[in-house]
Amino acid sequence: MKRIEAIVASEKISVVNDALKKAGVGGATIVEAKGRGKGEKPKMMGGRGTSSHVAEFSTRANIVTVVDDSEVDNVIKAILDAASTGAPGDGKIFISSVGEAVDIGTRKRSQTSMV
Ligand SMILES: Nc1ncnc2c1ncn2[C@@H]1O[C@H](COP(=O)(O)OP(=O)(O)O)[C@@H](O)[C@H]1O
Ligand SMILES: [Mg+2]
Repeated sequence: MKRIEAIVASEKISVVNDALKKAGVGGATIVEAKGRGKGEKPKMMGGRGTSSHVAEFSTRANIVTVVDDSEVDNVIKAILDAASTGAPGDGKIFISSVGEAVDIGTRKRSQTSMV
C-alpha cells in the first residue's frame, strides 16, 4: 500500500476529488492547510481601509489517500490531469509506503488497501 499525499490549491479540491473517484479511489481525507513553495510570491492581503500585510503562506489542501501499489501510477496521473497548470504553486505529491491498515468498522486488518 502507498500513501499518496497531494498538496494542491484549495480551489482544486473538488476537481481532484472527482478525478480520484473516476480513477476508482474509494476513500480520501482532506486536511486544510497553509503552505509556501519556492516560486510562489507572497501576496498582499487587505485593501483600502483595512490593514494590509504580506501573506507568507497560501491556503492549500492536503488530499490524502491510501491505495494499493498497482493503483499508484493511475492515481498520480489523475491528480496531475486535474491539478497541473504549470503555474507556480501547483503543489506537490508525496508518496510513501504503508505497512498495514485496519478498517475500524469490520475490525479487519490488511496489507492491501480496503478503500
Ligand atoms: N518541500 C515541500 N514540503 C512540503 N510541502 C511543500 C514542499 N514544497 C511545496 N510544498 C507545498 O506545496 C505548495 C505549492 O508549492 P509548489 O507548487 O512547490 O510551489 P512553487 O511552484 O512555487 O515552487 C506549497 O504552498 C506548500 O504547501
Ligand atoms: Mg510548483
